[in-house]
Amino acid sequence: MRATLKDIAEATGLSVSSVSLVLNDRPNRISAKNRQLILEKARELHYHPNQTAVSLITRRSTTIGLVLPDITNTFFAQIAKGAETRSRELGYSLMLCNTNDSPEKDDDYINVLLSRGVDGILLVSSYQPGGDTLCSARWEPSSLEKPVVLVDRGLDQFAHKQRISGVFADNELGGYLATQHLISLGHRKIGCITGPMGAASSKNRLFGHIRALQLAGLTFDSSLVREGDFHTESGFLLGGQLLDLGVTGIFACNDMMAYGVYRAAAQRGVQIPTELSVVGFDDLPFSEITEPPLTTVRQSAYAMGVSAVDKVVRMIRDEHVTEPIETMSPRLILRKSTGVCQK
Ligand code: RIB
Repeated sequence: MRATLKDIAEATGLSVSSVSLVLNDRPNRISAKNRQLILEKARELHYHPNQTAVSLITRRSTTIGLVLPDITNTFFAQIAKGAETRSRELGYSLMLCNTNDSPEKDDDYINVLLSRGVDGILLVSSYQPGGDTLCSARWEPSSLEKPVVLVDRGLDQFAHKQRISGVFADNELGGYLATQHLISLGHRKIGCITGPMGAASSKNRLFGHIRALQLAGLTFDSSLVREGDFHTESGFLLGGQLLDLGVTGIFACNDMMAYGVYRAAAQRGVQIPTELSVVGFDDLPFSEITEPPLTTVRQSAYAMGVSAVDKVVRMIRDEHVTEPIETMSPRLILRKSTGVCQK
């Protein structure tokens, strides 16, 4: 049975109104001693306010919604971890929705979260390969009466909308660093496996890949680009196709697909890095223990989650606040999956 204000009043010998003023952080003249007594008894009785009742009065739920495409990918799990930690520090709960890469579920969950009265939403939008290149969401910012922070994947038509902000990695720079590293090792026939091209993160990594080739005076060969889905199986299938075309280096636009490239190389008896160099993107925890450890582009997923919560809470607390978009710089992490081109 959950403790009520009345239980705390009886346990402390104080009035229900005094207990309510203290626990709802309302202005009051209650002595410090009695305040402390109330707080201690509330903790002892594991008191939690009836949020529905509180929301009806304050029109605030102190809850933030987080929509993610694939919680099994530790990149998104790290975003959730940062967001949850920061939400609790700021007095908010986090409601997590996993869409399994379904753009339709983006829309559904946003409506569910709004109907549950969340105070703000963090959205990592979902895409399928071959999906529309504009964006997955079909909702309009005007329909979003609550602030939204886009994380990791932007939505072009929502740029510069007042109640919308964003936290992203500089994906173009990340793609450039990955391919420039392979070029510096003498690789000239370099394949690229992108994520779903509807996702801005995929498009921008490919742009960085192309920029590195062009700056090195190399011709961009689109037949060496494949659109994956950010999952390992697509890395395996598409990596095999690129290997059969004779590439000596592959930039996989996330670590999960790079693991699939490893499988394709092993199936063909191709040695990494002596016969094939592989670069990933994300720097998942597993990438240190793959054999060989994966060279990859690190982006700060945990920090993205923390920053996104800071932004959405500032917009919740002041409806006139506009939050600038934040772009975090990625870093190339050199390990043993890349080496000098032997061909
Ligand atoms: O691993 C999932 C990928 O999709 C990450 O690179 C992240 O940036 C997201 O866009």
